[in-house]
Amino acid sequence: MTKKQTWSQRFESALHPAIARFNASIGFDIELIEYDITGSQAHAKMLAHTGIISHEEGEILFTGLEQIRQEYHQGQFQPGIDSEDVHFAVEKRLTEIVGDVGKKLHTARSRNDQVGTDTRLYLRDQIQQIRQQLREFQGVILDIAEKNVETLIPGYTHLQRAQPVSLAHHLLAYFQMAQRDWERLADVYSRVNISPLGCGALAGTTFPIDRHYTANLLHFDHVYANSLDGVSDRDFAIEFLCAASIIMVHLSRLSEEVILWASEEFRFVTLKDSCATGSSIMPQKKNPDVPELVRGKTGRVFGHLQAMLVIMKGLPLAYNKDLQEDKEGIFDSVNTVKACLEAMTILLQEGLEFRHQRLATAVTEDFANATDVADYLAARGVPFREAYNIVGKVVKTSIAADKLLKDLQLEEWQEIHPAFAADIYEAIAPRQVVAARNSYGGTGFFQVREAIINARTQLSGK
Ligand code: ARG
Repeated sequence: MTKKQTWSQRFESALHPAIARFNASIGFDIELIEYDITGSQAHAKMLAHTGIISHEEGEILFTGLEQIRQEYHQGQFQPGIDSEDVHFAVEKRLTEIVGDVGKKLHTARSRNDQVGTDTRLYLRDQIQQIRQQLREFQGVILDIAEKNVETLIPGYTHLQRAQPVSLAHHLLAYFQMAQRDWERLADVYSRVNISPLGCGALAGTTFPIDRHYTANLLHFDHVYANSLDGVSDRDFAIEFLCAASIIMVHLSRLSEEVILWASEEFRFVTLKDSCATGSSIMPQKKNPDVPELVRGKTGRVFGHLQAMLVIMKGLPLAYNKDLQEDKEGIFDSVNTVKACLEAMTILLQEGLEFRHQRLATAVTEDFANATDVADYLAARGVPFREAYNIVGKVVKTSIAADKLLKDLQLEEWQEIHPAFAADIYEAIAPRQVVAARNSYGGTGFFQVREAIINARTQLSGK
């Protein structure tokens, strides 16, 4: 039989053991313990500040809570299922340490505003850590880009060779995605950083509390204006999970590219031993497990976003126990995003080697310069659509003759159109094809160098 619970005398018998287990969140919300302690310390200070308890009592509560923090750090505080959740666990231990005054801590507060406070404090920290990781990820991309402005790689649409691009340009696309992720998280942060503390169970409290005082102590930017909203709002969690999902989309797309690039079909990169794995049966294999796992783990973060939306959609105001289900998804998403960012940063930094020789050949072995032939004619007065049709014919004839554009004789060009001259060969050379795309944001080397300078500035931005 489990012991009688923390709640009131109204209850005569204890919870059924299976129901106690079912109800308890201590198994996972122990993750919040530091934040719970910090939040309670702010609350205790406020109670003393407003005269709801004496200053001496406030001090005792504060110090007792600090002791629990130490005990937890030293592995001495490991609350079990009988505590139900982290909030009860801390309060119970506090009363063991400081005696009856510990029972005053929960004055003018409810676990409903308490858990909301804890979750926000936790997410606030995690968001800053993830933003820092995004910065490191971006830094590594930029370093590789700087060394590869003039490395060419086939560019694709529909996964068909389209036009060659600078490898730096290709990688900088991911830099920009990460930049938006970094900015998006700052925006999410602004709505995470609002204090629900003091909203009570749902309606506020009869005590003369000072919500702005606790908000200040805990470095919240604002306080919730409506107590019902304050205890039951999880928009901030949905927003975080959405931002986390978008980060995963970006990491997953990059993963997919690395997987393709490492395949025998592409052979654009070699996976270094430190970031690749072998097969238990096929000795020749080197597998891209890291990007595959990142791509795979994306699903669970999307799942947590979906779960959170579904948890919320039917909830009447205000707090409902359904909200206890928010935590595991948030924790798992945080851990997944952090682990994936770390792995992908290492993979880029030291796990991948671009095969320069192979890339240089790859951009010469296709018709990815066909647009440039059309542009060549258009620049010499042929209307583009007409030029486009002419080049279509050129490509068709070349394929039939098993030739590439660069292999056509000048006479063959001139038979097709008199505007072609000897400079056509220069115009369709891959280097020139890339260099010529000098429009803002394009892959032309001049633009890419500018983009790198701008990215450095973005990276040092706060
Ligand atoms: N463990 C609960 C949660 O995570 C804390 C709040 C409980 N509140 C309540 N009224 N039962 O949501």
